[in-house]
Amino acid sequence: MLVFALLLAAAVPAAPPYAMPGEAAVAPYQAKDSNAEARPYTGDFMARAFHGRAGIARVAGDLVDRAYADPVIGEIFKGHDKVRPTRTLFEQFCYIIGAGCTYSGRDMIASHKDLGVQQADMNRLVELLQRAMRDEKVPFAAQNRLLARLAPMRGHVVQK
Ligand code: HEM
Repeated sequence: MLVFALLLAAAVPAAPPYAMPGEAAVAPYQAKDSNAEARPYTGDFMARAFHGRAGIARVAGDLVDRAYADPVIGEIFKGHDKVRPTRTLFEQFCYIIGAGCTYSGRDMIASHKDLGVQQADMNRLVELLQRAMRDEKVPFAAQNRLLARLAPMRGHVVQK
């Protein structure tokens, strides 16, 4: 009986916290760093350029605030939980920048399914991110390095 219970415990992984307290519920998914869909930078060049995790949190939070309030793409965010993307976008950026985070969110296809995002929306989001990074005084080279890791995600975010 004990052996059976142990085998069962090994076969059924504990349910991860799909959503944190205060966030809207999400369908079950497997949390893993590869859901961030980009190779992280190594060394501390990027983390320094973004002023560590506090700076990354400011950039991600600022981007989410701007996106939800934006006259062009704000409509797409209307009615969606803001708490969760603020947390998961921070984690995703922090992971990619190599500032010592793991990413616990969904992959980019699952996150953007049925939102109807178009290329122009993606361009607008990039513009807002550039503004957030400029306000954080992130050096231009580091800004471009983050953007370079996000660009290939376009095919999973933009609806065909
Ligand atoms: C490379 C570009 C982008 C990245 C890295 C990104 C990243 C993310 C992440 C991490 C989440 C949350 C994942 C989760 O809940 O587990 C998310 C959700 C979301 N994103 Fe994006 N995103 C991108 C582009 C866009 C664009 C262009 C739009 C629309 C203009 C958009 C609209 C949304 C919306 C509305 C949600 C919330 C979905 C929901 O509530 O289920 N995203 N995104």
